[in-house]
Amino acid sequence: MILASESGGTPQNSLQQFVQQLGMLMTTWQATTFLIGEYFSENDANPVFTVADGLIWLRQSVQRNSMVRKMEILKMRGQATLPGLHTYRIGSAGIEVFAPAGAVAPEQAAATATAPAPGARALLGVPGIDEMLGGGLPRGYSLLVAGPSGSSKSILAASFLAEGARRGETGVIAAFEQRPNRERNRLLADLIASGNVTLLNSQAPDLSIDEIVYLLIGEIRRHHASRVVIDSLSGFELALAPTFRDDFRESLLRLVTALSQVGVTVLMTSELEDRYTDLRFSPYGTAFLTDAIIVQRYIEVESRLRRVMAVIKVRASAHSDDLREYSIDADGIHIGLKLPDEEGLLGGRPTRKGGPRPPAAVAQRG
Ligand SMILES: Nc1ncnc2c1ncn2[C@@H]1O[C@H](COP(=O)(O)OP(=O)(O)O)[C@@H](O)[C@H]1O
Ligand SMILES: [Mg+2]
Repeated sequence: MILASESGGTPQNSLQQFVQQLGMLMTTWQATTFLIGEYFSENDANPVFTVADGLIWLRQSVQRNSMVRKMEILKMRGQATLPGLHTYRIGSAGIEVFAPAGAVAPEQAAATATAPAPGARALLGVPGIDEMLGGGLPRGYSLLVAGPSGSSKSILAASFLAEGARRGETGVIAAFEQRPNRERNRLLADLIASGNVTLLNSQAPDLSIDEIVYLLIGEIRRHHASRVVIDSLSGFELALAPTFRDDFRESLLRLVTALSQVGVTVLMTSELEDRYTDLRFSPYGTAFLTDAIIVQRYIEVESRLRRVMAVIKVRASAHSDDLREYSIDADGIHIGLKLPDEEGLLGGRPTRKGGPRPPAAVAQRG
């Protein structure tokens, strides 16, 4: 090797000359060269960084018992790169890199997307709810179902997938709360057993959003799925490595964007703390992210707890504003009548408008 030792000068100068000569030689020999080094900051002026045609920076950190690894292409001469930090995982098969969700090159997304036909709707399979939505959920939309524990979010999600299966559509579910089994959600367990629905294996520790998106999109493509469920966002957040929880909202936006790019219709559930005095419907302020929102609540009527739900929004579409009572039985959700003449329902303590309530109750089950 033609070393720079003869040139005298400072060690930095000799390194610079060495690297330049090395670079020239390798180019002359038309060799593709990988240089590997341990550096602590990409901001230090280092002759290697200047000479190299490409620069891939790897970093890792340990945060609350979890190892997080990320890489970034700082430069790659003559070609466009996907900007940003890419999380990666080292496994027995080598390195697997997860492009930042939503950073898929547009032509690549377009090539695989099955854009839903304009005006097409996906039914949720609960007649009253589809009617409240204005005839089902527009295809390609994302729907947030928010409600307290036990309000039937998971049951509605299963119904959405079952309705797809009835129409020959396949679905993918990322279940973060508990593994769906026959005792807990028989309908869903049957859909998974029959192959109509794929359960995303999301049990790996230290998950990142990018990895979840990568896994989800992989399953969607493999099974040509058109319906996707994420149950629930609260469980999802807990499954993430702590460092990714900090920018959860931002990451969710990337998730929703990536899913909408592939053209699927999405149902996400979100646990709502049952604070009767508080009208917010999503603990993450994620409501703005989704195209449609259904809220489920418990209300107290004459010392009984009853369930009501309402459609809060469906982007660019007419929908019902009614607050409807509903019940659950072995066949699923049944939407009852609209609750009439009540005020303060969402506050959980309704009072009848214009005087005391007559004996027979507010709404019959329909
Ligand atoms: N066969 C049934 N008969 C009556 N109620 C049922 C039946 N199955 C489930 N439920 C009701 O549904 C609730 C669970 O719904 P689920 O969708 O799991 O709630 P979550 O909103 O927490 O996901 C139970 O708490 C129960 O009240
Ligand atoms: Mg649930």
